[in-house]
Amino acid sequence: MIRKKIAAGNWKMNNTQAEAIQLARQLATTQIPEDTLVILGVPFVYIKDVQSAISGTNIEIAAQNCHQELSGAFTGEISASMLASMDVKYVILGHSERREYFEESNELLAKKTNTALSQGLKVIFCCGEALPVREAGSHVAHVKTQLEEGLFHLSADDLKNVVIAYEPIWAIGTGVTASSDQAQEMHREIRALLSNKYGTDTADQMHILYGGSVKPGNASELFSQLDVDGGLVGGASLKAEDFKAIILA
Ligand code: 13P
Repeated sequence: MIRKKIAAGNWKMNNTQAEAIQLARQLATTQIPEDTLVILGVPFVYIKDVQSAISGTNIEIAAQNCHQELSGAFTGEISASMLASMDVKYVILGHSERREYFEESNELLAKKTNTALSQGLKVIFCCGEALPVREAGSHVAHVKTQLEEGLFHLSADDLKNVVIAYEPIWAIGTGVTASSDQAQEMHREIRALLSNKYGTDTADQMHILYGGSVKPGNASELFSQLDVDGGLVGGASLKAEDFKAIILA
């Protein structure tokens, strides 16, 4: 099964409006390989600007979060239907920073996933373990629980609109990358879980991205692993030259 590679950037809470537009314009000039999908995870407030800057390209936009309810009295929140109405195609859910700083549980993420899918968004669903969990050797069990509680209630048809991002927390923003063996081991486990639950056809179609200190220097080795279908990139996605190099990797 040949899966397209995905290079997804997660800009997090960075950049001024002018910087965001400049970055998007620089990326818009990239010759994107046929077999690669580029997604930019931009702050809500710049979605429209970035859409203009990348118009005419195949680059897609992701929001970095959405609320679990469709609408209502939730001051300051953004709904999945708002995003869909702005032609946003993807939403990142369950990033470890949302889990940690905003106390998002697997149960809440299951609701957010349902709501996002119901509005026609595709979900980039993040999972991954903290360092003590890895050191205790429980990382596979930890990720299994995150997937079982956050995603495995979905039908196989709905699951096809989900991209899984494995992001070990100890590798996020630390400069410490999982080795390509560590990444492949976890990605293989995730695909085996998908296969047990949904069958091999579905498991083979699913994209599983690696995130955590992906840089131009390590991207091609990570992405060449059998079950690694690309990356979710934080810091390096804020520099046009670095992210272009990762897209080409
Ligand atoms: P870094 O690439 O900065 O480690 O961040 C990874 C990440 O959290 C992407 O969502």
